[in-house]
Amino acid sequence: MSKKVDFSFSFLQGIPHMVSDEELKFLFYLVKNKYTGTGIIADLGCRFGATTLVIFEALKLVKAKQKLIACDTFRWDEECETQLKDHPYKEYFKNNGYLALFRNNLSEFIEDIEIIVDIRNSNIQTSVEFLIVDVMKSEEAAQLVLEKYYRALIPGKSFVYQQDFDHYLTPWVQVISYLHRNYFIVYNDIKNGGGIWFFYKKTIPDELLRIHFQTIPKNVIDNAFRWALKISNKKKHKGIAAAHVMAYIYRKDKNKAFDLWCRYLFQGYELSGEFVDLQRRLEEIK
Ligand SMILES: C[S@@+](CC[C@H](N)C(=O)[O-])C[C@H]1O[C@@H](n2cnc3c(N)ncnc32)[C@H](O)[C@@H]1O
Repeated sequence: MSKKVDFSFSFLQGIPHMVSDEELKFLFYLVKNKYTGTGIIADLGCRFGATTLVIFEALKLVKAKQKLIACDTFRWDEECETQLKDHPYKEYFKNNGYLALFRNNLSEFIEDIEIIVDIRNSNIQTSVEFLIVDVMKSEEAAQLVLEKYYRALIPGKSFVYQQDFDHYLTPWVQVISYLHRNYFIVYNDIKNGGGIWFFYKKTIPDELLRIHFQTIPKNVIDNAFRWALKISNKKKHKGIAAAHVMAYIYRKDKNKAFDLWCRYLFQGYELSGEFVDLQRRLEEIK
């Protein structure tokens, strides 16, 4: 008799996370139904362990015991102020980071987890079958994910979740995904969530695993964002459009960034949220 699945995910109670219910459910579904054990699972940017726990609960159902990599800085940041504001050990985490909290949340599975503190310390030797990426917060981190983890993906087997696909502060995510478009299939664009799942179909050539974002030609950047808007659902579009502007703000190309910002507002994107922040950033460029 098959085990009943608890889709209320009550095991996550009290664990703050930044993923939607739909993202969690799809992660659970995919691990349960598609994971073969050919390679490991890596959860990059695991924070307090919500996604890590969902993965283990799914693995339990298929009885696939497997080592998992969980990576984060585990360092206190601004968002912890809200996420952990009522936690009795808040002050401890503030001073020491929240690794102890991750360990506690994952205590049932801790022996099967290789914890990596900071992506810079990754030195993986095995193939990666499932890759959850929520760590490309800087160009440097994005580059490390490509060199260490994308290189370890298995053609015809691996899945990659780009959790920041609609995030405006990490434009390299959309650009990298575009440069890799011939090597992946868009597997599932999560409607109520920031990310897109990709299925890895063939080996990415080495030169596409070393990407220097600042020197990518403008026409490639623009094509990348046209593509990103085309493959994603409408709810992601404002963030993606803002990421397009942000790509030029990072380059300090004020004219191009301002031109794009105006163009998107003219197309009907609202002057709120990301677009207000972009305005402030544009004003700060000398
Ligand atoms: C948006 S949060 C992750 C949220 C989590 N995936 C969730 O859905 O609940 C991004 C995470 O990336 C981590 N991070 C940032 N830079 C990192 C680095 N260089 N190495 C490892 N983790 C990093 C942060 O500590 C943070 O927990």
